[in-house]
Amino acid sequence: MKIGNVTVGQDGRPILMLAPMAGFSDLTFRGICRQYGAELTVTEMVSAKALYFGDHKTALLSRLGEGEHPAAVQLFGREPKIMAYAAQKLLSAENPPDIIDINMGCPMPKITKNGEGSALMREPGLAAEIVKEVARAIAPLPVTVKIRSGWDERSKNAVELAKMLEAAGAAAITVHGRTREQLYAPPVDLDIIAEVVRAVSIPVIGNGGINSSADAINMLIETGCAGLAIARGAMGRPWIFAEVRAALEGKEFGEPNLRERIQTAIAHLRAMCEDKGERGVFEARGAITHYIKGMRGAAQARDAICRAGSAAEMEAILLRLLDESERGDGYTD
Ligand SMILES: Cc1cc2nc3c(=O)[nH]c(=O)nc-3n(C[C@H](O)[C@H](O)[C@H](O)COP(=O)(O)O)c2cc1C
Repeated sequence: MKIGNVTVGQDGRPILMLAPMAGFSDLTFRGICRQYGAELTVTEMVSAKALYFGDHKTALLSRLGEGEHPAAVQLFGREPKIMAYAAQKLLSAENPPDIIDINMGCPMPKITKNGEGSALMREPGLAAEIVKEVARAIAPLPVTVKIRSGWDERSKNAVELAKMLEAAGAAAITVHGRTREQLYAPPVDLDIIAEVVRAVSIPVIGNGGINSSADAINMLIETGCAGLAIARGAMGRPWIFAEVRAALEGKEFGEPNLRERIQTAIAHLRAMCEDKGERGVFEARGAITHYIKGMRGAAQARDAICRAGSAAEMEAILLRLLDESERGDGYTD
């Protein structure tokens, strides 16, 4: 598939993308998801304004892994010129992104109260202006946008907005089929994603509630979208990309056993510590506890992981849990 001049995945088949997740889809997690078949990865959202002012921590968030291509850095903000400046600045990085994605979906009050994220869906003119400025600044690289179905039930404007964003130069659009009002709760409106697919000629990537290969196939059939973006379904289950790809190819998928789950969790923990140092130990807690969900003794292990002060301690807890699970009957769910 082509997103502007960038080739993503293989011709004629839907692309599998890891959706951005602030505080979760860091360089380490994105690398793991790619190993399991994610074909496009997007960084956590990055503040355009913070980049503009040269904030070092923000610049770290936009780093890509070695070989992490094609990949997008996601920007949030609302001033077209600052967004364009930040996008251009990202392109001068040592390992620059292939795509700049713009966040028009974040529902968090600390973002929307500044008129950023999903609040931009209420200002379609400004949203289009941002896309136009960023597209001009980074040409020939493509700019993509991630939107929701709308702000609330009474103002579902994804279709009209998508058309305006396409006209302004967006090369692809990810549609999360929930309103801002819904936050992350079901249901996901597949009809509106299908309407966006019919309304624009750029690729549309469907997002929301894909937690299994059945969900993925349902999204494709119901919407006709060109690709799938998976967020929470990949937390502690990065192999969901392999599961979905196998299903699309009519192949069997072998769910990793307990040992493989724990080994992946340990590899994740080690890679995070290697990348982030001491900070990695604390930031890994959230990521690691997802891998043990449903295992016998997971609740106690989760508490112990959250109290652990070192990576070695966390690994020991994970291995003890595995040992207990293998001696017992494994899963509790
Ligand atoms: C912890 C978390 C952080 C998120 N951060 C971002 C973000 O930085 N940018 C963005 O566009 N969406 C963000 N999202 C939204 C997801 O990309 C996705 O649209 C949403 O979770 C729906 O997909 P899902 O049902 O597969 O989880 C975040 C979601 C979660 C759960």
